[in-house]
Amino acid sequence: MSAEDPPPAAHRTTEDRSDAGEDAAALAYPNIALVKYWGKRDERLVLPWTSSLSMTLDTFPTTTRVRLTPRHRQDTVTLNGKPLDGEPLRRVVAFLDLVRETSGRPARAVVESHNTVPTGAGLASSASGFAALATAACAAYGLHLDARALSRLARRGSGSAARSVFGAFAVWHAARTGHQDPDLDSFAEPVPVRLDVLDPALVIAVVDPRPKPVSSREAMQHTVNTSPLFRAWMASSRADLVEMRAALHGCDLDAVGEIAERNALGMHAVMLAARPAVRYLSPASLTVLDAVLELRRDGVSAWATMDAGPNVKVLCHRAEAGRVAGVVRAAVTADSVHVAGPGPGARLLGDSS
Ligand code: DP6
Repeated sequence: MSAEDPPPAAHRTTEDRSDAGEDAAALAYPNIALVKYWGKRDERLVLPWTSSLSMTLDTFPTTTRVRLTPRHRQDTVTLNGKPLDGEPLRRVVAFLDLVRETSGRPARAVVESHNTVPTGAGLASSASGFAALATAACAAYGLHLDARALSRLARRGSGSAARSVFGAFAVWHAARTGHQDPDLDSFAEPVPVRLDVLDPALVIAVVDPRPKPVSSREAMQHTVNTSPLFRAWMASSRADLVEMRAALHGCDLDAVGEIAERNALGMHAVMLAARPAVRYLSPASLTVLDAVLELRRDGVSAWATMDAGPNVKVLCHRAEAGRVAGVVRAAVTADSVHVAGPGPGARLLGDSS
């Protein structure tokens, strides 16, 4: 009997007999952190050492459909039409187990996910992926969570997904030290920003769309365990967050950019100091950083940020994004260059049947 075969009739439960499972689909966008999350203090609960802050994009959405299949004995998960296996599958199944435990419904599911962003290339595909999965799975399993609880749930799939539950700018709080239930205390929430005044855009230079050789999960734990700079990183990132909130409140794009760039370089510095070093940036990333510096010398507000991969995102005013994209294209052989603005939070899609 294969995993897809129904169990013999005599062993079926009431739920098994109700043929059709629930079916829901959701859409979520990636987010790019301007104050980064890099390091967990609890791997099982996905609790970060420091709070982080990001902008959710209006490009590269992930769409995910979850269908309950009470007759199946295993979850089936496909990404862009291909079955997932290994660690990526294990993470999705562990996440669905959590949803099953919380909802009290044991049914297995078929999950079909479509990413429009290169997967695993430091372009936040796990953020949009788990935010969409959390939203769709909750609807399919009949779990009614408010946005904060949904963000806490998405966090368990991938930390950065907690922020993609919300649109535009969001802060993800590290649980306060000594809090009796840190799981309850670590969630994302929107940061109010006057978008028409700040007028932010991110120019995304995909210098290498291939999946990263080391996952951010593995790399960040290795950094926590071995980098002698980790404590200094925590202290400087906490200070960056305070300044970032003030800069956003004041709609000061130059201050936002300056803090974001130094925070990203600090994150790469702490991982370069890990033993052995984790190095995601490539010569092409540094060429884009040089171009960004040149833009600033020419009076353009442009600031770079990089995640767990060589691709560079340049924060600038929307009105100048075309010029910035042109300079980046001229500087480096990018696979593609995209312009993104602030996008919406995760949402359920209409009838998916
Ligand atoms: C560099 O959220 O992918 O993009 O929680 O282990 O799934 P896990 O990590 P993930 O890490 C994102 C790291 C980052 C910075 C950020 O988005 O804040």
